[in-house]
Amino acid sequence: MRKRDVDTVTDDAPTVLVVDDDPQLCWMVREELEGEGYHVITAESGARALKSVRKHAPDVVFLDFRMPGMDGLETLKKVKEIDESTDVIMISGFGKTKTVVRAMQLGASDFVNKPFEIDELKIVLSKVLERKALTRELAQLRTEIGIRSIDESIIGDSPGIRQVKRTIEQVADSGLTVLIRGESGTGKELAARALHSMSRRATKPFIKVNCAALPGELLEAELFGYERGAFTSAYHTKPGRFEYAHRGSIFLDEIAEVPIALQSKLLQVLEHREFMRLGGKKTIRVDVRIVASTNRNLQQEMARRRFREDLYYRINEVMIEIPPLRERREDVPLLVGHFLRVYGDQYGKEIQFPSKETMDTLVAHTWPGNVRELESLMKKMIVFGTEEIIAESLMPEPFRHSGGSAEEEPHRPTRQQELSLSLKEVSRRAAVEAEIPLIREALRRTNWNRTRAARLLGISYRSLLDKIKEYGITTAE
Ligand SMILES: Nc1ncnc2c1ncn2[C@@H]1O[C@H](COP(=O)(O)OP(=O)(O)OP(=O)(O)O)[C@@H](O)[C@H]1O
Ligand SMILES: [Mg+2]
Repeated sequence: MRKRDVDTVTDDAPTVLVVDDDPQLCWMVREELEGEGYHVITAESGARALKSVRKHAPDVVFLDFRMPGMDGLETLKKVKEIDESTDVIMISGFGKTKTVVRAMQLGASDFVNKPFEIDELKIVLSKVLERKALTRELAQLRTEIGIRSIDESIIGDSPGIRQVKRTIEQVADSGLTVLIRGESGTGKELAARALHSMSRRATKPFIKVNCAALPGELLEAELFGYERGAFTSAYHTKPGRFEYAHRGSIFLDEIAEVPIALQSKLLQVLEHREFMRLGGKKTIRVDVRIVASTNRNLQQEMARRRFREDLYYRINEVMIEIPPLRERREDVPLLVGHFLRVYGDQYGKEIQFPSKETMDTLVAHTWPGNVRELESLMKKMIVFGTEEIIAESLMPEPFRHSGGSAEEEPHRPTRQQELSLSLKEVSRRAAVEAEIPLIREALRRTNWNRTRAARLLGISYRSLLDKIKEYGITTAE
């Protein structure tokens, strides 16, 4: 570092705190560092050092190991508690390996051995400051990348999707609890991940819990963890997902599937960010951002007393509604291009854009499986290397194979009737029409194992049961 004059000290010059019980050493270091243009403060005891850290928030602290009263290690620990980002350089005597290791564990940034040359001190200091600047730059960069990447990760330019992206940008860093609503395959998880990666929590964990995948008791154990012996198979203590998500985000996927009994415990965590493990006595506090998703109508669930009203208002601080793909057809060509590029790269295949005719078919399709359906179709097209697969896959089931009995399909309106139906009703019917054969096929392949069929279809067990009932699908085929 170039020698600077004292009066070149600017307000953005780093502040250094020197802590040593030897006033002469403090004075000497201060003179030298001020000569280099740093702001320098000194403290002759651990207790004074802490006061100084609170008051001046120094960038770097030089801290002597051996001091009367509060020793270096103790002071180090407390400094880090006040502000984790403060860099602490320990000044130690030779051969104190054990204390050095301990100090490293407590987060010391570097060491200088006593007695030292003043130049040594300056080199270590500038090294630590350089690292600090780099970390700051990286964090800055990450935020910038995050902001740029919302358009890279969430494809679509329809008003509906633009609104979704705008809301994500606005609330990402707010810590507000967000409820994401949308049909299956519309991109709810994608939106939840975007919320996380655009927040300051981006470098911390994103923990996803699929609330539909586990029965009640297991879900409770998964979310909150358990102590050894809490129940018969609890052979050892296991922390809950909420603990893993500390400082990060937790994504409660398909929150409507949480059994009502467990909903009150969830409400507690939402209100106080506190809970106990199963069989535990200790209250655990966590700092988490909560994002939930559902493809159900929660108002209806509340009316049926399957979803607690107070929980609904808690998770619904911000609502993001992702429209189904059939209501934003202008996004289809963009998504087609996106997935062809992604899978073309992945499979190392030359991509060929679909003909206008095929693209028209794609835009006109009702997409009951939404973006997920479109994604898997594009993958197929890349793998088979032909767009013919599209016409074949999108043709309504009755035309695809002869022998499919038409009576079992819902009533198909004539052209005349069709014109008199509202556009919404037409697309709803088309969606149902496309869904039924898919559900049948999944059930046939899994031998009517509904859990596996639901997984195959990418929907929850409960929504599969609902659909089977609604469409009157039976084993008799
Ligand atoms: N706007 C979009 N741009 C790019 N990819 C998308 C978009 N929307 C969805 N996808 C992709 O589609 C697939 C399904 O999305 P996702 O899993 O987020 O849907 P979901 O709403 O959570 O579905 P489900 O309710 O079935 O769980 C994912 O591979 C996702 O990356
Ligand atoms: Mg999902």
